[in-house]
Amino acid sequence: MRLTASKRSRWVRALWLVALTGCGAPLDSFNTVTPRGDAVSAYFTLVLLPSFLVLALVGGALAYVLVRYRDRGLRDVPEPAQIHGHTRLEIAWTIAPVILLTVLFGLAFQTMRTVEADSPADALTIRVIGHQWWWEYEYAMPGFVTANEVHLPVGRPVRFVVGSADVVHSFWLPQLGWKKDAIPGKWNDINAEFTEPGIYDGWCTEFCGTQHAWMRVRVFADSPEQFDAWLHQQQAPAAPAAQPTALRGQQIFLQNTCVNCHAVRGTVAQARVGPDLTHFGARTTIGAGVVANTPDHLRHWLREVQAVKPGALMPNYTALSDEEIASLAEYLMGLE
Ligand code: CUA
Repeated sequence: MRLTASKRSRWVRALWLVALTGCGAPLDSFNTVTPRGDAVSAYFTLVLLPSFLVLALVGGALAYVLVRYRDRGLRDVPEPAQIHGHTRLEIAWTIAPVILLTVLFGLAFQTMRTVEADSPADALTIRVIGHQWWWEYEYAMPGFVTANEVHLPVGRPVRFVVGSADVVHSFWLPQLGWKKDAIPGKWNDINAEFTEPGIYDGWCTEFCGTQHAWMRVRVFADSPEQFDAWLHQQQAPAAPAAQPTALRGQQIFLQNTCVNCHAVRGTVAQARVGPDLTHFGARTTIGAGVVANTPDHLRHWLREVQAVKPGALMPNYTALSDEEIASLAEYLMGLE
């Protein structure tokens, strides 16, 4: 199979991203960073241990019988004694699994109660809304909206209220310990409290269309001071463009179809079809994780979004000149 140059570059980009996320942000559901997640991974480990034990016992007995009583073409191996039924053995292998499964059921029930317990009333509530193919985050108090990257403070209970604006998605952050589906018309809670600061990556895990694979989740668990600073910055409307190029970019933004889908608080752009761009420059990636947020990538995205993320609900801006694209990128990168 021969790959075209664009397909090859897409593969290389995907491999790079896997390598980078693998280094920078572990995707390990055993390495949970919330007490509820710890309860899930502890239970999982507890189920794995007896499972391996049972596998070893059954597999070992099977292997022994296959070897010991194999047909060697000779008749010098004694036939095993033939018996009909063995009451004690049958009671034992009926009761042992019943006890094992009852204990695991009890522990599973206890783990579910721990995981599904309500958050305290003062929890930070964040609405998570799945879209084809990006995530919208709505902070209830104080009210503002952002996209694709969610910040929260360590040590404070958080309540994610997960829903969808279109089809079924699934919000999965492996280090949270479990996931919830994002279903249109229904809200599902994930309660958590992050204990370790860091950047945690995740995915949409319910097939939701062509760009399902590029619907990444990125959570920043900040220290309370970092979080307050971020919150303060996010609440503020976008700073007006100051540089002539950025000012030109702002005009292009406001005079084109950008405003039909995007909001930039502090301007007339107030639509919520696409991601809120009020503080776009402060994000680390573009297109829900498809590329890093750099001026080069942004210009490429604006010019040829369908090459970067085919199927994304944004048109290529081929009618704009290079100078106009550069101004627009300058304006958006300046929205910090
Ligand atoms: Cu959204 Cu898969």
